[in-house]
Amino acid sequence: MTLVIAMDGPSGSGKSSVSKGVARALGLRYLDTGAMYRAMTWWMLREGVPLDDQAGIAARAGEPVLVSGTDPAAPTITVDDVDVSGPIRGSEVTGAVSAVAAVPAVRERLVALQREIIGTGGIVVEGRDIGTAVAPDAQVKIYLTASAEARAQRRNAELSGATIAATQADLARRDRLDSTRKVDPLAQAADAIELDTTSLGLDEVIEEVLRIARKHTADA
Ligand code: DC
Repeated sequence: MTLVIAMDGPSGSGKSSVSKGVARALGLRYLDTGAMYRAMTWWMLREGVPLDDQAGIAARAGEPVLVSGTDPAAPTITVDDVDVSGPIRGSEVTGAVSAVAAVPAVRERLVALQREIIGTGGIVVEGRDIGTAVAPDAQVKIYLTASAEARAQRRNAELSGATIAATQADLARRDRLDSTRKVDPLAQAADAIELDTTSLGLDEVIEEVLRIARKHTADA
């Protein structure tokens, strides 16, 4: 298998910017698995499936056709041919996604799709369970962390409007739901390298991941 870099960590740890930067620097593809859970959630909301109806969500998880573009310079995601890149970042989807992502049938379907896209490799994959469940054989596994304050500040810089305290509370709520669900919770793989990005700039984090990836390539 050619190179697979698994990039896991909690919300706001910088996974997306770092993953895209690393993919561009190395000429690799990029997959945002969170966008797939968000797209599935967008579709469930549009269909009016109640969020507390796990059986109802499971029964319909096979219906929407999800297509993820893997160009790190312009990642895209469509559901039934509708580009949902914008709507999946809205507060409605953000508030609902942890409930949908906790349904085993949803995870089964999306993990299968993710493995299909990963194929023989050449890709940076970001998510919560990439190193532990989706691609346990990935040659490079990174677990990004940052303090709760730093993560809330970064999120607010992307999506202004909320107070830092409100954003911090929302991130804490999602982290709790994502780390305590029964199937493939957010977790650091035993062989992942943890990078605390609290006091690092984006370029410094990208440089550090590139250094780790180069070391892997040299050792291989
Ligand atoms: O990375 P993000 O905030 O876009 O992810 C959205 C949600 O999807 C997050 O709250 C947890 C879920 N998720 C998941 O369960 N497994 C993944 N591999 C990626 C995301």
